[in-house]
Amino acid sequence: MTFQLAADATLLTPIQVGDTPVANRLFMAPLTRSRADADGTPSDLAATYYAQRASAGLIISEATAVSPGAGGAYPNTPGVFTDRQQYAWAGIAEAVHAAGGRMFLQLWHVGRMGHPDLSGTETVGPSAVAADLDARTPQGRKPLPVPRALAVDEIGEIVAAFRVAARRAVDAGMDGVEIHSANGYLLHEFLSDVVNRRTDSYGGSAANRARLTAEVVEAVVDEIGAGRVGLRISPGNPAGDMREDDVVSAYEALLARITPLGIAYLHVLVDPTTPLFGTLRALWSGTFVLNTGRDTGTDFCQLESFADWGAISAAAVGRSYLANPDLIDRLLLGAELNEPDPATFYAPGPVGYIDYPTLEAQRQTA
Ligand SMILES: Cc1cc2nc3c(=O)[nH]c(=O)nc-3n(C[C@H](O)[C@H](O)[C@H](O)COP(=O)(O)O)c2cc1C
Repeated sequence: MTFQLAADATLLTPIQVGDTPVANRLFMAPLTRSRADADGTPSDLAATYYAQRASAGLIISEATAVSPGAGGAYPNTPGVFTDRQQYAWAGIAEAVHAAGGRMFLQLWHVGRMGHPDLSGTETVGPSAVAADLDARTPQGRKPLPVPRALAVDEIGEIVAAFRVAARRAVDAGMDGVEIHSANGYLLHEFLSDVVNRRTDSYGGSAANRARLTAEVVEAVVDEIGAGRVGLRISPGNPAGDMREDDVVSAYEALLARITPLGIAYLHVLVDPTTPLFGTLRALWSGTFVLNTGRDTGTDFCQLESFADWGAISAAAVGRSYLANPDLIDRLLLGAELNEPDPATFYAPGPVGYIDYPTLEAQRQTA
């Protein structure tokens, strides 16, 4: 597939993202790659992988657990709750900065998507409603258990874990953090009117369902400053067996509550051809990052039109960056894009991770 962007394309112009000036508006979307050590420390390969992609305006890291119990949805996913993990992230931040890039760390709690065989802890969620999915455990595929509904004081501990993780991320040299409130994980589960069946102050009304994400955003802003905080949402996304009958009210309550904080950006995974895109866009006056997530691949011409009209501030792109470390160069030249290989998305080792060729490398071997 080829697309060509003009040198003066809006997507290729700089933008200020909170405290961080970035060189262009084509951000790298967060991508779990399952290459971390067994203790959740990112591998040495990760520094190479991210530095290769430093020409993205902003790199948003793979989802990263904020505490031991926050991980365990997939094997070999990283955390940011130990000194060893923080040290490894510092090496990654340094490598990305040395290559001229900018990077936010995506902070994650998997909620009901966790399996005890992977996390070593009990699976928790807003309510005792299981995701009808299997986890890939070391002993093979196993159904996800029914989560235990979190007690209110445990919810406070989770908010605190996000705060501490954000501090560690910034101390590691990250430009900021993205709070993961999307794709069927814990914060998204609380927002849902179907999965969240609580009758306390964290369930029921839209404001109550929005409360956990809002409290996490507020705590992290208090810890590291609004200019270093992004938020990701995906209303209506069925990933993680997520179900939502009402895909607007809780998000409306959430965005109304956090708007005065002035965070760096809102990152929304939504199909821009649906009315929901317009509804959500109207709820946010700050920096708006769109991820279209089309099964047929990213339509860069469509994204450029949106950026040019001012409908979006920036676009986040996942699989195209995964397969094309020099995506920006390829788009400028209208060159063929490498196709991502799903077989190596989560496979261990360097293959399909740091060996996608640049155009330059392809020319040299031709
Ligand atoms: C291999 C893979 C891993 C992903 N991991 C994450 C993740 O860690 N956090 C997250 O918010 N989304 C994750 N996603 C979703 C992507 O950020 C993005 O929304 C999706 O790939 C659609 O965008 P695209 O069409 O540009 O690839 C992942 C997607 C893929 C394909």
